[in-house]
Amino acid sequence: MKIAIGADHGGFELKQTLTAKLSAMGHEVIDMGTDSATSVDYPDFADQVCGQILDGRAQFGVLVCGTGIGMSMAANKYRGIRAALCDNEYSARMSREHNNANILCLGDRVLGKGLAENIVEVWLSASFDGGRHQRRVDKFSD
Ligand code: RB5
Repeated sequence: MKIAIGADHGGFELKQTLTAKLSAMGHEVIDMGTDSATSVDYPDFADQVCGQILDGRAQFGVLVCGTGIGMSMAANKYRGIRAALCDNEYSARMSREHNNANILCLGDRVLGKGLAENIVEVWLSASFDGGRHQRRVDKFSD
């Protein structure tokens, strides 16, 4: 799969870890930055990753900041983006099966690397259930 990834300085380290993990899993990773721990503004990177998805260049996105909160707030401003902030595997799976999330948001200062990697794995292996969940997603998509 083609996966766009982005982070601010608070998520830079975890982004590097996840980029390596996703590549090792055989995914094509489109890294939209940031490229260092120098302070930057998370909405700029949410914008880049959302753009990749909305333009059809990536199927899914991963956004990382200190808490994941700012990234999820910013990403969910874009029509067609369904960003899910997850701190456990169950929420990650449900965000795909029930909410058809197309962006996973993670907090580098909240999660250990091993847990974050597991969350990403579970999230990418789950698929949308459709049916009544499609109706519900449609209700907030217009
Ligand atoms: C940066 O210090 C921090 O505010 C940011 O990474 C994120 O946690 C915002 O929601």
